[in-house]
Amino acid sequence: MFHWLEKNPFFFSVGVFLVIAFAGLIEILPNFAEASRPVVGLKPYSVLELAGKNIYMKDQCIACHSQLIRPFKAETDRYGQYSLSGEYAYDRPFLWGSKRTGPDLHRVGNYRTTDWHENHMWEPTSVVPGSIMPAYKHMFTNVADIATAYAEAVTVKNIFKTPYGDEIQPGVEAFEAHKPAILAEAQKIAAGMKNQDVKDAVKAGNVPEIVALIAYLNRLK
Ligand code: HEC
Repeated sequence: MFHWLEKNPFFFSVGVFLVIAFAGLIEILPNFAEASRPVVGLKPYSVLELAGKNIYMKDQCIACHSQLIRPFKAETDRYGQYSLSGEYAYDRPFLWGSKRTGPDLHRVGNYRTTDWHENHMWEPTSVVPGSIMPAYKHMFTNVADIATAYAEAVTVKNIFKTPYGDEIQPGVEAFEAHKPAILAEAQKIAAGMKNQDVKDAVKAGNVPEIVALIAYLNRLK
């Protein structure tokens, strides 16, 4: 029926364009709906959590973990309420993932704790016998890049109007002024950990990657 179209490059191109444009619309339009606005009560990521999210991306946790609970009984029984698009409103980029070598992590903050993550990231088999997840010991000594996370918060506030308060402003002075609040948040995480080197580092004003990562994982609810 469409043989004439295949023999006519011009109209064929127009047809391809129309099909792709239609599919694109179907994909894009729902994002303008009310349901994809930030869910009620959703707060932007704190600078510490953003730093943790960056470590999650850098160390490619997404290669084995999804962050998207599908609306199936088997999933909601295991992980809790299925994911809503409005929950990702401040995720840039979102980390849905497409591979589950390990479990979904979208609500891991509901059932895992700071000390559990500490043990698990240091040596997964110490809390989950037979775990094939790699250990991430370097995170206990590597220092998290807080300055970049802060700059990122400034950027999304300016470009995407992410609703941060006055504590997020361009400039080094603004960063220095906000730093005590970031460190205080890190202190709270470190207080729940047992590694003395990590506690000392935070006291000295350096945030080890593990602290930022746990702040991020705890936030996933
Ligand atoms: C090679 C695949 C792989 C990578 C990469 C990986 N994980 Fe895992 N992860 C697993 C597997 C398998 C499990 C299940 C066994 C376990 O709990 O250790 C798991 C479990 C977990 C759990 C426990 C979840 C639960 O519901 O009990 C957390 C939290 C976690 N991973 C975080 C991370 C983070 C953070 C990173 C990146 C720094 C990461 N994982 C990278 C494979 C991986």
